[in-house]
Amino acid sequence: MPQPDPIRILFVCLGNICRSPSGENVLRHLVEAEELSEHFHIDSAGTIDYHSGHSPDTRMTAAALKRGIAVAGRARQATPDDFREFDLIVAMDRSNYDDLLALRDQCSEPTARLAMFCDFCENHDESDVPDPYYGGAAGFEKVLDLLEDGCGAIVRRWQRGEL
Ligand code: 4NP
Repeated sequence: MPQPDPIRILFVCLGNICRSPSGENVLRHLVEAEELSEHFHIDSAGTIDYHSGHSPDTRMTAAALKRGIAVAGRARQATPDDFREFDLIVAMDRSNYDDLLALRDQCSEPTARLAMFCDFCENHDESDVPDPYYGGAAGFEKVLDLLEDGCGAIVRRWQRGEL
């Protein structure tokens, strides 16, 4: 099947203030560097609405900025319609994935492909992007290591027509 152009990608975590807005902005950063912005529509959402309207976590934005990546946006909750409005929905961990399966069941005509983020990683063996919210600084670095790995692979897969 030909790749949609632009391809619409939604990153999803629990709160949409740490992992998924970082995934959104890491991928956007890489896509801009490759001058491919017109080919990608990128967004993020959380499975809970607790942080809806909030900016990304300041510990996360500080860690990303040290790598030259500005993490911006406002949190929102994922909806059943997202399964019609995106081509690829990427879950940060297994619990997010399971919650998204339940959301997909509420969408009348779901078309999005649902994937686990770590399945894109080429240099890490983890299956989940670990939730950094209640941990220390190393957790935020781990999130970024995984995101840079997987998002780089997402761009290269797109370039090969294999996303
Ligand atoms: P995120 O991190 O899912 O990566 O945005 C979290 C943010 C908030 C909470 C948990 C994880 N929380 O429990 O409020």
